[in-house]
Amino acid sequence: MSTTREDFTGKVALITGGGSGIGRGIAMEYAAGGGTAVVLGRRPDPLNETVQLIEAAGGKAAAVTCDVRDADAVTAVVDGVVEQHGRLDSLVNNAAGNFVVPGKDLSPNGWRAVIDIVLNGTFFCTRAAAQHMLAAGSGSILNVIATYAWHGHPGTVHSAAAKAGVLAMTRTLAVEWAPDGVRINCIAPGPTETAGAGAALWATDAERASVMASVPANRFTTPEELAGPATFLLSDRAHYITGDVLTVDGGQWLGKQIYGDSLR
Ligand code: HXC
Repeated sequence: MSTTREDFTGKVALITGGGSGIGRGIAMEYAAGGGTAVVLGRRPDPLNETVQLIEAAGGKAAAVTCDVRDADAVTAVVDGVVEQHGRLDSLVNNAAGNFVVPGKDLSPNGWRAVIDIVLNGTFFCTRAAAQHMLAAGSGSILNVIATYAWHGHPGTVHSAAAKAGVLAMTRTLAVEWAPDGVRINCIAPGPTETAGAGAALWATDAERASVMASVPANRFTTPEELAGPATFLLSDRAHYITGDVLTVDGGQWLGKQIYGDSLR
């Protein structure tokens, strides 16, 4: 497959959840395009691993530890990135938490944990980054959501509600910020070969087979494959695109079932 790489020479992106999976894939592609990828997460070890991978490939990267649920810490980290690197061109809100549970069995604390990471964390990071982007008159933000943001799915009430909130946030802020040159979009990946999603969404071989059967393309995607569409939306080639969702799911959500029927 031939791909076109975006040019991020001299630019800086902050990628939450950049220590693994989709976040790491986007960070590596951004850096391969000449930009500096700053990866943010709770645990330093995976972040440092991403930095090492990028540097080994000749790219520029840095790591910052932060819990996206802590609004003050997020603001301090974002301000620090701008201070250290002199600019912030892009933000990728990729950090997520998820587990499959019937809604009636979900504790208030379980609900809060996912809403706090996905919905509140995305807003805190977006708000902090936008202060700099709006002042600079340019910037692009990308939110990683899921198609169940609009069709829902049994067992994902916390995550679906949070992702739906992120989608509404995206459309709202796209209109607020377009006059000032700041774009905000979403990408909705289908089932992706990552340790986090695998553990959370298809823990057994049977569940994995059931998810696979729901994908018309008959395969999962990878962080590397998603990184192309993601970096396109961050790039200047997508300059007139804002408030939109790019679904990259092998046709999954248009099928009749996703993630199996075990919780119906
Ligand atoms: C039911 C659960 C649970 C489970 C946790 N809880 N796991 N309830 N089933 N499997 C409940 C706990 O019992 C607790 O409630 C509450 O959730 C908070 O749990 P903690 O472990 O104390 O919270 P915390 O340490 O903050 O962890 C947050 C987390 C965790 C979301 C629960 O899994 C996490 O940090 N995950 C990050 C990585 C991750 O999930 N990646 C997957 C992303 S994949 P009580 O009431 O007992 O106190 C993804 C794919 C999207 O998002 C869709 C793609 C198509």
